[in-house]
Amino acid sequence: MRGVLSSLYYNFPSGRAVMFLIPPLYWFRRDAAREIIREVLRLRPKTLLEVGFSDAFLTRRLSLALPDSRITAIDTSAMSVRRAKRLALPNVRFLAEDFFKHEGRYDLVVSMHVFVLFDHAAALRKLSEMGRMHILTLTGRSPFTMLHRPFHRFMTGMDVNLVEPEEYRTLAEELGFSVDIRRINPIERSYMVILTSD
Ligand SMILES: C[S@@+](CC[C@H](N)C(=O)[O-])C[C@H]1O[C@@H](n2cnc3c(N)ncnc32)[C@H](O)[C@@H]1O
Repeated sequence: MRGVLSSLYYNFPSGRAVMFLIPPLYWFRRDAAREIIREVLRLRPKTLLEVGFSDAFLTRRLSLALPDSRITAIDTSAMSVRRAKRLALPNVRFLAEDFFKHEGRYDLVVSMHVFVLFDHAAALRKLSEMGRMHILTLTGRSPFTMLHRPFHRFMTGMDVNLVEPEEYRTLAEELGFSVDIRRINPIERSYMVILTSD
């Protein structure tokens, strides 16, 4: 049962927006993707890893923004991979893989609203093995995210590790990263973190 709910939840983000009856969910994703793309265009990485692409909402934008880059997009959901491959994005390879088991080094790792599912310290340690620069979007505690959290737990069995920007900065700095934080959406309390390590 949990498997079915989780698959529905992750594989049909537009359906998720309808289920929630919260159309702004689409705008939240659009705002986050726009911020990431702006930064990616500035950095122009030759190799890029996207973690947890789901319906390839961000991947399609990355593919257009970086036509000459090699993009690897991973997601644990085999169904997401099957669907994304049908998009035939020329510079993207889609793989059904777990971030924590993925091997490879990249000029840039990006991920939109996925790292809230992870233990933050473990994920930061894994990132530091994968390259020097990383861009993530995360969410803090707001009425919206506090409402979303039990729903997400019910649907997927996974908790959402909401984290305030300054808490995340402290943790990332302790683990050796330089941290730049940009706010994205005050209702969702989303923000973008740009992590650099030596
Ligand atoms: C909340 S969705 C976000 C999807 C997309 N980035 C977006 O913003 O619309 C989380 C996605 O991360 C994937 N995921 C969860 N844990 C993962 C892991 N350990 N490695 C790779 N992907 C993972 C899920 O299958 C799901 O597609």
